[in-house]
Amino acid sequence: MKPLIDWIAHYHAFWTEHIDRLERLLEKDDQMPVEKNAPSQPFNRWIRHFHRWVSIAFTVAVIGNIVAMSVGQAQPPVWMIYSPLLPLALLLLTGLYLFVLPYATKWRTGRPTEPIGT
Ligand code: HEM
Repeated sequence: MKPLIDWIAHYHAFWTEHIDRLERLLEKDDQMPVEKNAPSQPFNRWIRHFHRWVSIAFTVAVIGNIVAMSVGQAQPPVWMIYSPLLPLALLLLTGLYLFVLPYATKWRTGRPTEPIGT
């Protein structure tokens, strides 16, 4: 566990800066006029933010596994091996929701949602 903690501490400053920049970029995207941002309803926006943040948790869990497997002698603990599964399941559910959303909106309103960023 110590090599993993050291490794994460080493890259912490790097991640913090990049995650801050990503957050600012995504906040700018969220401030676009509501009708131009596909998930305009508060619940849809919440799902999108949730999917975004869970994707970071999933990535960290996968990287943790890779590091633990490459530096450790023994197998990583079972909780670590399975730790990406919960975020992945949440990503699958919320991702399918985000996938269906534009089609459902088109079906309900009769007009397609505009692509984000146009
Ligand atoms: C497991 C199945 C997954 C499905 C079905 C799924 C589906 C989707 C869909 C439909 C979108 C919206 C795309 C758009 O409107 O342009 C999306 C966005 C996104 N997905 Fe996934 N996804 C999945 C897993 C993942 C994973 C594993 C990651 C990263 C580790 C990830 C990261 C993201 C991010 C960062 C966004 C952009 C969110 C935002 O706009 O703020 N997704 N995903």
